[in-house]
Amino acid sequence: MKYRLGNVHQIVDLIIRNYLKKGSICVDATLGNGKDSLKIYKTLDGDCKIYSFDIQDQAIIKSKKLFAENKINEYKIKIINDSHENIYNYIHEPVDFFIMNLGYLPGGNKDITTNYKSVKIFLDKITLIMKAKSFGLIIFYPGHEKGMEEYIEISKYLSDLDQNKFNVSKIEQMNQKNQPPLVVMVERL
Ligand SMILES: C[S@@+](CC[C@H](N)C(=O)[O-])C[C@H]1O[C@@H](n2cnc3c(N)ncnc32)[C@H](O)[C@@H]1O
Repeated sequence: MKYRLGNVHQIVDLIIRNYLKKGSICVDATLGNGKDSLKIYKTLDGDCKIYSFDIQDQAIIKSKKLFAENKINEYKIKIINDSHENIYNYIHEPVDFFIMNLGYLPGGNKDITTNYKSVKIFLDKITLIMKAKSFGLIIFYPGHEKGMEEYIEISKYLSDLDQNKFNVSKIEQMNQKNQPPLVVMVERL
């Protein structure tokens, strides 16, 4: 088998490499250290536009450094220091893909995490501007208290998405202990 699926990042990789198309308009709702945006950019050989959001200055600084080290065309990844709730202030075109890697900034302040209220607002908005056959990935971390609350709340939201418009699938590593991360794929029909 080409891929091992031992952790959530490998699963995300597998999906991105197989489904994401060149020329895609992408949204990284939680830029963090910039690794997801970089992965998307590299997978598409830079043939894409990515709107990348984060509320923390530390995340913005780290990502800018990572992108500079990797010689990223700065017009291809638009870094936005604002909450993903406000996507309509920045995105005025239909999107092909979004990723939302929830939780706290790796190596940062663990008290600053995503919260389900802004995630719901983001989802309300992004689902209205997703192109036909577009998709999004949400990575949940139910292993910590806030992450579990977020997972429960957003699961209810996703379960209620109209099945005539969206497929919502969950990938769960069932035999792993201690609430491993989960990936949910939201596909626009
Ligand atoms: C798990 S990290 C993301 C990891 C990242 N994608 C990477 O590749 O390193 C979650 C990020 O979400 C950010 N965040 C929290 N609430 C946010 C919001 N309302 N809008 C945008 N970003 C937010 C945090 O600052 C943190 O950097």
